Amino acid sequence: MNTASIISIKNMTKRFPVGKGEFTALENINLEFGEGEFAGLVGPSGSGKTTLLNIIGSLDSPTEGTATVMGKNIAQLSHKESALLRNLHIGFIFQSYNLLPVYTVFENVEFALLLQNHTASERRKAVMDALEWVGLTDKVKSKPAMLSGGEGQRVAIARAMVKRPKILLADEPSANLDAKNSHQILKTMKQLNKELKTTFIFSTHDEKVMQYLDRTISLADGKVVKDELTVAANAG
Ligand SMILES: Nc1ncnc2c1ncn2[C@@H]1O[C@H](COP(=O)(O)OP(=O)(O)OP(=O)(O)O)[C@@H](O)[C@H]1O
Ligand SMILES: [Mg+2]
Repeated sequence: MNTASIISIKNMTKRFPVGKGEFTALENINLEFGEGEFAGLVGPSGSGKTTLLNIIGSLDSPTEGTATVMGKNIAQLSHKESALLRNLHIGFIFQSYNLLPVYTVFENVEFALLLQNHTASERRKAVMDALEWVGLTDKVKSKPAMLSGGEGQRVAIARAMVKRPKILLADEPSANLDAKNSHQILKTMKQLNKELKTTFIFSTHDEKVMQYLDRTISLADGKVVKDELTVAANAG
């Protein structure tokens, strides 16, 4: 990797307490991610993909070893410091996409920008750009309950991308999308990846997502079993 490393995971193990014992969800992981990567975690259900994304996103910390994100050892961050890291630099698309039901589509996306210093008109422009990326400018005034599953997923994607984060973590982002929308959104993500050098890390089972990845990391039983550069179908 000749680009600067923005995520560095060393000898990292994650155990969860279960009853009186422990469950090892990730075991001795070593991974580096550079600026502008477009990578995916693949592997069976329960292999540790979400657990790894949560640690990279500083929502959780390692039991052993270290995870360093943008120069910060995330186990050593205070609550406030990890919130700041997420607010400024990390976009999330969760497996369950968590829209706020009383707010409109516009407000749900705008929400991601409220903790940063932008004027209302800067926010408006950024929100409309993000909704255009996902093809939802006609739904700005809708509430989440009025949207289809795939539309809700696209709002969650717009909300994660609107602040143009350095790192975008996407947990099964295409779960509720049809083929046409999946391809449109992946092309948009790839474009942002190229233009803004955002590092994307997906977790996915979806062949449609896999064909866009530049790097595919396979997990099995909490271990990295393969880490390979892949030739993206739509490179260039
Ligand atoms: N908070 C927790 N407490 C106990 N065990 C947990 C916890 N979170 C995850 N696990 C266990 O760790 C393992 C990895 O879970 P994880 O959610 O990372 O899997 P995954 O690869 O994302 O699976 P999927 O494809 O189904 O989303 C699973 O066996 C899960 O049951
Ligand atoms: Mg998962």
